[in-house]
Amino acid sequence: MRTSLCDELGIEHPVFGFTPSEHVAAAISRAGGLGVLGCVRFNEAEDLDRALAWMDENCDGKPYGVDVVMPATVPAEGTQIDLSSLIPQSHKDFVQQTLLKLGVPPLPEGEGGEGVLGWLHSVARSHVDVALEHPIRLIANALGSPPADVIDRVHAAGVPVAALAGKAEHARRHVANGVDVVVAQGYEAGGHTGEVATMVLVPEIVDAVDVPVLAAGGIGSGRQAAAAMALGASGVWMGSYWLTTAEYTQSPLTQQALLAASSSDTVRTRIYTGKPARLLRTRWTEAWSEPGAPEPLPMPLQNLLVSEAHQRIARSGDPSVVSMPVGQVVGRMTEVRPVAEVMADLLREYGETVERLAGLDR
Ligand SMILES: Cc1cc2nc3c(=O)[nH]c(=O)nc-3n(C[C@H](O)[C@H](O)[C@H](O)COP(=O)(O)O)c2cc1C
Repeated sequence: MRTSLCDELGIEHPVFGFTPSEHVAAAISRAGGLGVLGCVRFNEAEDLDRALAWMDENCDGKPYGVDVVMPATVPAEGTQIDLSSLIPQSHKDFVQQTLLKLGVPPLPEGEGGEGVLGWLHSVARSHVDVALEHPIRLIANALGSPPADVIDRVHAAGVPVAALAGKAEHARRHVANGVDVVVAQGYEAGGHTGEVATMVLVPEIVDAVDVPVLAAGGIGSGRQAAAAMALGASGVWMGSYWLTTAEYTQSPLTQQALLAASSSDTVRTRIYTGKPARLLRTRWTEAWSEPGAPEPLPMPLQNLLVSEAHQRIARSGDPSVVSMPVGQVVGRMTEVRPVAEVMADLLREYGETVERLAGLDR
């Protein structure tokens, strides 16, 4: 499954693995792909520095990348108190009443913090600063092109920049802004998604830009990877599938919920951040679509509104209420397996598929 991107980035297979876990990211890189560590959960630059130092020790010298979240429209950066005063009391009441109804206990005295702040530009910039002190081989950005000065700095360090796109128009804009690799992420993907399915989006973006395009959204097998390459992609970018690997130890509760889910058990909703994102459908997501539930707030207010709820849910021990981004490919995620095994299976099935296709009549 080699493409020219492999030589450019020094990887064996063009399998890019987005993950919030440094353990999973390192395992993906060791298995010959490119592990890409999601930085958004690191509020403190020192914590990210420690995670990357750990990766430097545990990737066996193989390349890895990072992913930052710099929304194209800069959310107002004030203190959390300023922003939270913009949240209607009725929304706060709804969250409290819903948690009570779902049986999610309050946090123990003294627990709970400020929630995830990595989407603030000041924090995301600190992620870039820290990442550039490590031997990273790629920086990806989630919600738009990174600002021009960030792209320039990353390029000056000899590191290519990738950006996610849900429309051909986004991809064209990224390339005009200096982005080197476009991740064409379809509707079925976990996390923030647009409205165009991977099958339609990938060839549209491949035709629209003259840089390598990675296919994302709905990929969890060699057949799906082969389909992505048939659509013109230079590699695959997977996020959900790594959540049920043995190395993902951040949340056994979430893993339990994911293993039980079918491909119909996801929902695209604004309740996670204020922008449409695909999540596992649970009693928490369902509560937001009941009659009388409020409209989610715009980013970043929704992040702040549900931040404490997410911490309470994570601590609750109840898989039926988890709040977790995951794509429709969750239906294939039926057992916990080591990353190396997932990668080996994907590559084996990819090889078999390509061979089968080569044997078909034209
Ligand atoms: C739990 C989770 C968190 C995600 N967070 C981010 C993120 O912080 N930044 C980003 O660029 N993409 C994020 N994504 C999207 C992935 O990068 C990737 O594009 C997507 O998972 C691909 O589709 P798939 O879920 O069908 O594999 C996330 C996906 C998941 C499942």
